[in-house]
Amino acid sequence: MNTGRLAGKRALITGAAAGLGAQMARRFHQEGAEILVNDLRLEDAEAVAKEVGGTALVADVSDSDAVREMFGRVGREFGGLDILVNNAGIAFSGSPELSESFNQRLAQQAQEGMAGGPIETHLDFTVELSDEDWRRMIGVHMDGTFFCSREALKLMNAQNSGCIINMGSIMGTAGGAGAAHYCAAKAGILGFTRSLAREVVSRGIRVNALAPGFIDTDMTASIDAARPVIEASTPMGRFGEPDDIAWAAVYLASDEAKFVTGQTLSPNGGYYMSQ
Ligand SMILES: NC(=O)c1ccc[n+]([C@@H]2O[C@H](COP(=O)([O-])OP(=O)(O)OC[C@H]3O[C@@H](n4cnc5c(N)ncnc54)[C@H](O)[C@@H]3O)[C@@H](O)[C@H]2O)c1
Repeated sequence: MNTGRLAGKRALITGAAAGLGAQMARRFHQEGAEILVNDLRLEDAEAVAKEVGGTALVADVSDSDAVREMFGRVGREFGGLDILVNNAGIAFSGSPELSESFNQRLAQQAQEGMAGGPIETHLDFTVELSDEDWRRMIGVHMDGTFFCSREALKLMNAQNSGCIINMGSIMGTAGGAGAAHYCAAKAGILGFTRSLAREVVSRGIRVNALAPGFIDTDMTASIDAARPVIEASTPMGRFGEPDDIAWAAVYLASDEAKFVTGQTLSPNGGYYMSQ
């Protein structure tokens, strides 16, 4: 019998087919949890589910009906839910051309900065951002976090217990040039976390956020030119590993964090120091 820190808990992690979500699935499983692997991508979700002896659930978290259906299945098949991690996310919602052109501008600007200036390359990202790209970013992160939390709470309220972990980012606190839509979504998630934590505390449900720094995953793979600048701005001098976030999530999900709610834990190598 597994006597780990999450023994007997049922955990649904969104966007868990890759990156931070997949690593959380592995550590949660190691600590004894039953894992429900949500993602948009069936094959990759199934591969992670197989690895952790869990179940893959395909749904776009920004689609209210799909989310309702997914949690209906969780209620019917698993009889409730103990942990929800709202992890699904995207870093860029523009066209590949805009993404490429923006990365070039970012690289050029970083080079000018490292050479001591002057900065002659302007990012001009927000003036080129379309309504559609703005809405997709807010949709995946903020709608997704709200839709999944709302449905999970229907299961958790019936138990008068549960734990929700929302994925923020240092971009939601420190800001980041050329990512106003991402930063807005992540800052919104931190506010949502604090409000919901106060609302559901009477039900014995805890709500916290993680705000990672720069971590090596597919999401940050395209950061190459700016990487030395980011590393130089990080007191620990490096990007983090997915495990740096997965273990923080294990802590927040476990009973070790039973007095912790409404908080933002930020494993970031010292990039941003708050509170
Ligand atoms: N990697 C970092 O440096 C970093 C830093 C801070 C915060 N974050 C946040 O952590 C989370 C995970 O990031 P990651 O680095 O593992 O990214 P990733 O791109 O490696 O993985 C994200 C996963 O989410 C899934 N996904 C995307 N949109 C979805 C949707 N609408 N519905 C369901 N699944 C969806 C993707 O298919 C993918 O499997 C994100 O919320 C991200 O914003 C990442």
